[in-house]
Amino acid sequence: MTVRTILKMGDPRLLEVSLPVDPIDGNALAPLLNDMWDTMAAANGAGLAAPQIGVMRRVVIFGYQTNSRYPDAPAVPETVLINPQITPLGDAREDGWEGCLSVPGMRGMVPRYREIRYRGYDQHGELIEREVSGFHARVVQHECDHLDGILYPQRIEDMRSFGFIDTLTEQGVMELQPCDD
Ligand code: NI
Repeated sequence: MTVRTILKMGDPRLLEVSLPVDPIDGNALAPLLNDMWDTMAAANGAGLAAPQIGVMRRVVIFGYQTNSRYPDAPAVPETVLINPQITPLGDAREDGWEGCLSVPGMRGMVPRYREIRYRGYDQHGELIEREVSGFHARVVQHECDHLDGILYPQRIEDMRSFGFIDTLTEQGVMELQPCDD
């Protein structure tokens, strides 16, 4: 149970493609998952990918019942997702502000698929398969991008919609709202 250091943008490990977990061994994964939940909670994040703490494996966690920073954010079930795969359901995308614990203090406007199906495994090797939309879909797309070495700034289409949280809110460009860091 340790709060680990979160790598920041500029660290080349965040640009690597992470390796699948095979076999999925709950006992072997427990220390990593405990550290990931502790680290995410300490940072008040909505999700975390293993490479963000320097573990180059295809493991993400996300979800919360309530988030003190975002009291109006819809709840997302607390989920461990190993070797995830995402299939967009339809072509529709929507723009939303995103942040990332590896890009502290900033937000950018990122288009994501509105609706997706995702599949993966929990720490017991049980299949998880869900069809989700909106913020839940956004969080999963953001976290899974980390497994392919992609940080959200690479997804921003208009770099004028990228800036520091305090300035964006002071200037009224962005209302404080859910993000998926
Ligand atoms: Ni992130």
